[in-house]
Amino acid sequence: MSIIDEIRSKAQSLYKTIVLPESEDPRVLEATVELVKNKIANIILIGEKNTVLAKAKEQGISLEGAEILSVNDPRYKDSFATKYYEMRKDKGLSKESAATATQNSIFFAAMVVAEGYADGYVAGSIATTGDTLRPAIQIIKTAPGIKTVSSYFLMVVPDNSFGVNGSLIFADCAVVPDPTAEQLAEIAVCSAQNCKKILGVEPKVAMLSFSTKGSASHPSLDKVKTATDLVKKSHPEIIIDGEIQFDTAIVPGVAKKKAPDSPLEGKANVFVFPDLNSGNIAYKAVQRLAKAEAIGPVVQGTARPVNDLSRGCSVSDIVNTVAITALAT
Ligand code: ACO
Repeated sequence: MSIIDEIRSKAQSLYKTIVLPESEDPRVLEATVELVKNKIANIILIGEKNTVLAKAKEQGISLEGAEILSVNDPRYKDSFATKYYEMRKDKGLSKESAATATQNSIFFAAMVVAEGYADGYVAGSIATTGDTLRPAIQIIKTAPGIKTVSSYFLMVVPDNSFGVNGSLIFADCAVVPDPTAEQLAEIAVCSAQNCKKILGVEPKVAMLSFSTKGSASHPSLDKVKTATDLVKKSHPEIIIDGEIQFDTAIVPGVAKKKAPDSPLEGKANVFVFPDLNSGNIAYKAVQRLAKAEAIGPVVQGTARPVNDLSRGCSVSDIVNTVAITALAT
């Protein structure tokens, strides 16, 4: 069974409720049909029922089994606006702006999740990463003990001698542009926990840079070293090493030469990049050159699961992202 089939099957057994706020996107409606048919999740679409059903009819599909919720639903409209105002009034948010914001389908979806009516939301087939994540950061907030929302990609490479049968975790490739040492440490901890959850193995975390154990010196390396030390202190159970180069982290022969004492032994399965430039470039390079499957970005660190799609996503990308979101609950 492929890793993605395993994820879909686990999601079926959990059968969580996931909100899809971008019902105006035909791919979202097609994905809803597949999700409902295969019982991967209970789906709530955000939109005006008549409009959504008319669109589905145009597409020749039936949305039977999915719930459709309007941002004007009198059960929620005013209470969501008031609750959002209360959350952000200290930041200068007015009552009028709170009411306008919660008419946005992604903000509304975040309120649906925060209020416990659903387990998570998935958006981003139309909205940018920023517009998808901002409602989560402001309304759902971070998980206990975590201050930073970040993300990981599950990379599945054709050569199954790497990682866990070819599956590896890359982080952060999509959210935090220039993490501090503390943020980098949190990214490492969340990614390690997700390695266990998604891949079912003990994480081996490589804190990447252009230097291995002092082979170069530069102020930018200090952040990676500090982050590694922070994780060692806060989570001594996590197998982690850094600063370390990619080849030393993933090729046992290179590890023997360049870092013979490394606990990773050239068998890392979680790769933490020092910033968003390196992480984003690396995942796209591996995806294209190694013909890897790049599943994500999977958002981590939020109190309830939220995920961001690529605007170029396919119907099956949406289905897979909903399944991953269900697993993170
Ligand atoms: N985790 C937790 N809180 C955060 C984070 C974070 N990562 N980022 C910002 N915040 C909080 C701030 O503390 C602040 O809180 P407050 O208002 O309660 O004081 C609030 O959010 C606003 O902070 P800003 O710095 O103004 O953040 P902004 O809302 O502009 O942006 C965001 C945050 C949306 C996550 C931004 O960093 C972003 O857009 N990242 C995405 C980068 C991107 O474009 N990636 C594209 C690649 S995706 C791909 O290729 C698949």
